[in-house]
Amino acid sequence: MKTAIITGASSGIGRAIALELAKEGVDLLLLSRNEEKLKHLADEIRSLHEVKVLYIPFDLHKNRNYDLIVNIALENFDSLDILVNNAGIGYAGSIEQISAQDIEKIFWTNLFSHILLTKSVVPYMKQQERGSIVNIISLVAFRPMKYWGLYNASKSAMEGYFKTLRQEVKKYGINVINVYPGWTDTAFFENAGIEQKVKNSFIKRFMDSPEFVARKVVKAIKKRKKEVYMHWWGWLLAKCHGLLP
Ligand SMILES: NC(=O)c1ccc[n+]([C@@H]2O[C@H](COP(=O)([O-])OP(=O)(O)OC[C@H]3O[C@@H](n4cnc5c(N)ncnc54)[C@H](OP(=O)(O)O)[C@@H]3O)[C@@H](O)[C@H]2O)c1
Repeated sequence: MKTAIITGASSGIGRAIALELAKEGVDLLLLSRNEEKLKHLADEIRSLHEVKVLYIPFDLHKNRNYDLIVNIALENFDSLDILVNNAGIGYAGSIEQISAQDIEKIFWTNLFSHILLTKSVVPYMKQQERGSIVNIISLVAFRPMKYWGLYNASKSAMEGYFKTLRQEVKKYGINVINVYPGWTDTAFFENAGIEQKVKNSFIKRFMDSPEFVARKVVKAIKKRKKEVYMHWWGWLLAKCHGLLP
């Protein structure tokens, strides 16, 4: 574990993973749209740990030059060890409300960008004969939620795609790790416009912290795990997928 590219690093789970990896001495390339938040995080990490921290303000939906990210990493790092596909946005709406632009935004941010950035990274990991590709998915991949169809679909597709990729790249020493967080206390709900609903519901009491998720992720990278659940009931939900109504 020497270097990592993390998407969606400006807040929540991605931010917590960046801090946790820095603790392990990993050099970082951080990506998200908000430059100010990235700068703030990079300064915080540099003040705490002796690691190299770079950041690029990058909109994964609009700027589709994913090779650029890899080129910047290669110019600054000796290897590409970890890619964390974490950026994601929520969306709740009935079928009447969904527009073609919504579909495009959700699928580019939550799925297509991860596949294409991974495509740019894999040739270098193959050359090195090692690497970890971490995908922050969601338990919703196994549990449909009313009005959350677009988000669910993006996450189910991510689960399916990266499970297949795991078989494809295993022989090159590349480990693909699928992570399935449940409710996690981040800005995700505020950004999806349902913060108030969540705040006032029982869900708030059962939320994990992003730091808890990040610790599980870093442990999984070290132990070369493949499927990561936060709790036993998440694992059970995944196993019962298809049996539940
Ligand atoms: N919170 C939960 O309950 C939960 C549960 C299961 C799975 N997840 C998944 O965990 C991942 C992280 O979410 P979070 O909970 O940490 O939420 P968050 O705090 O809102 O973080 C989302 C991150 O994605 C970035 N992002 C969003 N759109 C982007 C774009 N177009 N280009 C580049 N970066 C973009 C955001 O940064 P900028 O705004 O700076 O671009 C931010 O850093 C997501 O994939 C989410 O689906 C969350």
